[in-house]
Amino acid sequence: MFETLLQNVYLVGFMGAGKSTIARCLARRLGVASLDMDCYIQRLCGREIADIFKTDGERAFRDIETQTLRQIANAGKETPQVISCGGGVVLSKENREILKADGVVVHLLVDADEASLRISDKTSRPLFNDIEDARRRLEERLPFYDEVADITVSTCNKSVYAVTSEVVLRIRKAGALEKRTRKNK
Ligand code: S3P
Repeated sequence: MFETLLQNVYLVGFMGAGKSTIARCLARRLGVASLDMDCYIQRLCGREIADIFKTDGERAFRDIETQTLRQIANAGKETPQVISCGGGVVLSKENREILKADGVVVHLLVDADEASLRISDKTSRPLFNDIEDARRRLEERLPFYDEVADITVSTCNKSVYAVTSEVVLRIRKAGALEKRTRKNK
């Protein structure tokens, strides 16, 4: 029995939630491509995210992020894939509307303490300052993650394999996977 992914799967959640890692594992499991929005933006601009923040400011980064998301959502109608979004993608109303209108959105939930442990190189995260700031920022964003999410999966104290398996089960239940037999594939 084979399964085909019918729509884009967007992974959202705070920095350190494991979005990029889970996106790669999930895509491998589903036999589709994965796309990391931050990596895509870096390639597009030929610069590190931290450098865009430092030189052009957060506003400029958010504009690029929205253009990129719009492009991905349009392209995904042809070939669904797994997309790992930057942690702040939910801050813009326009982005939230795009996410709600397209695909399945999975919120990978993490707490600030675990996120801090997972992010070894904090210089690459211009918006991850100290732990108090991270707690406050996460608290502010939780309603936005909730607003866009079709599915929420906690990642705390779970292996990559366990989280990926849970996501597969939940997106199957949400109707994002179509069963196919070898014959009619
Ligand atoms: C950001 C998260 C980062 C990156 C940028 C801003 C945020 O992505 O997009 O530094 O506002 O939370 P990750 O969530 O992949 O770290």
